[in-house]
Amino acid sequence: MKLPTHIEQKIHSLACDPQTLNCYIYDTAPMRDKLMHLKKIMPRGVEIFYAMKANPHPEFLHQARESGAEGIEIASLGEAKKAVAAGFSGSELIFTGPGKSKEELSWSVTQGVRTIHIESLTEAHRLQQICQQLDQSQDILLRINANFDIHEAQTTFSGGSKKFGVDEEKLDTVLPQILALDRLNFRGLHVYAASGVLRVSDLLKNCQLVFDLTRRIEAYYDGVRCDIIDFGGGFGVDYLETGHDFSPNDWADGLQLMIDQFNFSDRHFVLELGRYLAADSGYFCSEIIDIKESRGKKQVVCAGGINHFRRPAALSINHPMCIVPNNHEPLFDGQEHVRQESVYFGGPLCTGADKLANDVYIESADVGDIAVFGLAGAYGLTMSNQAFLSHEPPQEIVIRKNSEH
Ligand SMILES: Cc1ncc(COP(=O)(O)O)c(C=O)c1O
Repeated sequence: MKLPTHIEQKIHSLACDPQTLNCYIYDTAPMRDKLMHLKKIMPRGVEIFYAMKANPHPEFLHQARESGAEGIEIASLGEAKKAVAAGFSGSELIFTGPGKSKEELSWSVTQGVRTIHIESLTEAHRLQQICQQLDQSQDILLRINANFDIHEAQTTFSGGSKKFGVDEEKLDTVLPQILALDRLNFRGLHVYAASGVLRVSDLLKNCQLVFDLTRRIEAYYDGVRCDIIDFGGGFGVDYLETGHDFSPNDWADGLQLMIDQFNFSDRHFVLELGRYLAADSGYFCSEIIDIKESRGKKQVVCAGGINHFRRPAALSINHPMCIVPNNHEPLFDGQEHVRQESVYFGGPLCTGADKLANDVYIESADVGDIAVFGLAGAYGLTMSNQAFLSHEPPQEIVIRKNSEH
């Protein structure tokens, strides 16, 4: 992985500090560029929300606002409060995710959350009851667990038995019951197939499926219209450095064709993007504390492990990485180092699961150097087991090309 010069300079300057280096460095310029590009190329009617679960740091929320995201996709009251603290109003939030509590639903209705995405009949009834108590009504989308899955995705959210949404086959029994709840305004459908998808045609299949469902519902239920069609997230990033990035232009062209075919140009389309927007705006940087040879394999131990960067272990992949040298004197003659070999990276936790990278080729690394993992801006710290072993959390350092926070 080649580091941008200003990131490398920042790591060098941080490494001069005698304290052990273990931090995230964020520069959200790539997020800005991506959002602005997407806004330019998307068909009319497409609204882009930032899925803040990817990275709830205020800098990412701030960038989402600055670069013209329509709002924020939230999945908890905690996220809602962070989004509000970053300046988003209730009407700029959409609330997804299974298991919303009554407190979360009441807060959403009171704050005028734009749409609540209903994940089950129980949730619909709970929301109806809350709306009655508050004497309000609420716009909703119905989330469908489509009978379709994308095999190559990193994580799937539809197909098979899932806790997400209502099974497509049950729609005909569930939808009439939801339509009968007088405090809920049915506005449309949410079908989110999978996360981390690199093949555009796979995600377009999902769009085709929602459009077909929309047609079917509108033909069958008199007076029912799906004004809003939410495709969820899922645009992938090239963690394995294959050179085949997700092409948002191809996706936008494909969607435009479908909109024309279905005559849906008067609808609103929602994208809730997390990974694609945030991944390349963050680096996890962790000092190499130890290097040892163990039964034929070299083990490199960093200051932070899955407590700070769990994603590689959780998904069994190596992130792009590099080593920034720090020229520490060896502590003794014969101290292990790495030279042009494939090695294993882990952290300081007492579990074999604490892996940062497996069997990865490294030109050169010494104790005291900094291991830097790229594409760590999405699902980095937020997805990690921070409490395990009670290490100090890594710093989160925000830099911009000419200034820093
Ligand atoms: C409901 C929902 N929307 C959006 C996202 C963001 O997905 P991605 O990061 O793949 O864009 C997720 C991720 O889990 C999700 O559950």
